[in-house]
Amino acid sequence: MFVMYGIIAIVTVVCAVILNAEPDGYMSDCPGMYHNTSISEETRRTLTVQVMRPTRSWLGRSDRTCSLSLEGAACVEDHIDLKTDTLIMISGYLDASFSPVVQTMVGPYIERGINVIVVEIFPVLVRTYPIAARLTRPFGIILGEFMAELTRRGLHPHRIQMLGGSLGAHIAYYAATKYHQLTSYKPARLTGLDPAGPCFRHLPRSQRFNSDGALQVDALHTNIDGFGIADASAHVDFYANGGLNKNLVMVVYCHHLRAAFYWYVATTNPTKFLAVQCASLHDARYGNCYGKQITTNVLGPRTNFTSPGIYYLPTSDNPPYYLGEKGLRKRKYGVNNYLLRTAPDKDLII
Ligand SMILES: *[C@@H]1O[C@H](CO)[C@@H](O)[C@H](O)[C@H]1NC(C)=O
Ligand SMILES: *[C@@H]1O[C@H](CO)[C@@H](O)[C@H](O)[C@H]1NC(C)=O
Repeated sequence: MFVMYGIIAIVTVVCAVILNAEPDGYMSDCPGMYHNTSISEETRRTLTVQVMRPTRSWLGRSDRTCSLSLEGAACVEDHIDLKTDTLIMISGYLDASFSPVVQTMVGPYIERGINVIVVEIFPVLVRTYPIAARLTRPFGIILGEFMAELTRRGLHPHRIQMLGGSLGAHIAYYAATKYHQLTSYKPARLTGLDPAGPCFRHLPRSQRFNSDGALQVDALHTNIDGFGIADASAHVDFYANGGLNKNLVMVVYCHHLRAAFYWYVATTNPTKFLAVQCASLHDARYGNCYGKQITTNVLGPRTNFTSPGIYYLPTSDNPPYYLGEKGLRKRKYGVNNYLLRTAPDKDLII
């Protein structure tokens, strides 16, 4: 009798744990993440940034390559007005400053008169993923020193926005942390586009992208159990369709591109990506966020940071992706209707 009760109790507890546990996610731990990784002087000398200044010419901008070093900061000061808002962008694994995605994403910033500094990560991170993951920290420290030098030369922290995709989100965070150590300031804003999960998932929160990095930190999660990370570690965390990307091809390759596309559309349509606040990550996953009273927020430059939390961001499958006000009503088929929608909800003769 007691044994039976015991088993029931244990099964109940175990099932409760299993049902409430979040899936573990792809490649949570990687060898060496707790060991030191450094970037040699020789490699350091190859690091560069692409500096873009808005202009009135037909191209709309003027570019220059500067080294990512203290001397390089002088080159940046020479090219842009440090009294202007500046975006520091760090793209994802195997991406490069010259990639079409990066070049497209900077467009709306340049058009709004914002300087853009794209950190060239390609030569350093073009390695196996777990090595690239280990390099994010020393890379971020170098970037933080560079930013502190820009501030010494006149770039006010309130003018600094940082945007990092996948591994770049962690680099941006390490840079912001180093910057804070050196200047005692925090950048105004840090946005993570699907911050990378593999190799980072199980690190303590303080060791990866989190809300301590800047005065305002937001994250857009599009692939939480694959290449992204589930943890709500920003001030405002948006989970696009619950953060679950059911499209398998997308999971394998284009996960951070999806986040980049949404962000690009959001920077040009700052009121359209409406999201609904959820009580927990679990609720966000399944879109259980449509109670009687909903609290909303918006992805992009107009995110309301006085309303922090976890948000479910419903999107459509095709550009321009946003649902606007329609997204504030619960979906007929629930959150992840990609699979359901492929069969019509009516009699079928084939
Ligand atoms: C990493 O390097 C620092 C300083 O160089 C040292 O204090 C620390 O013990 C090293 N950690 C490991 C795991 O080797
Ligand atoms: C931002 O959120 C706060 C707190 O929920 C709310 O009072 C305020 O009206 C919101 N601001 C905008 C512009 O929606």
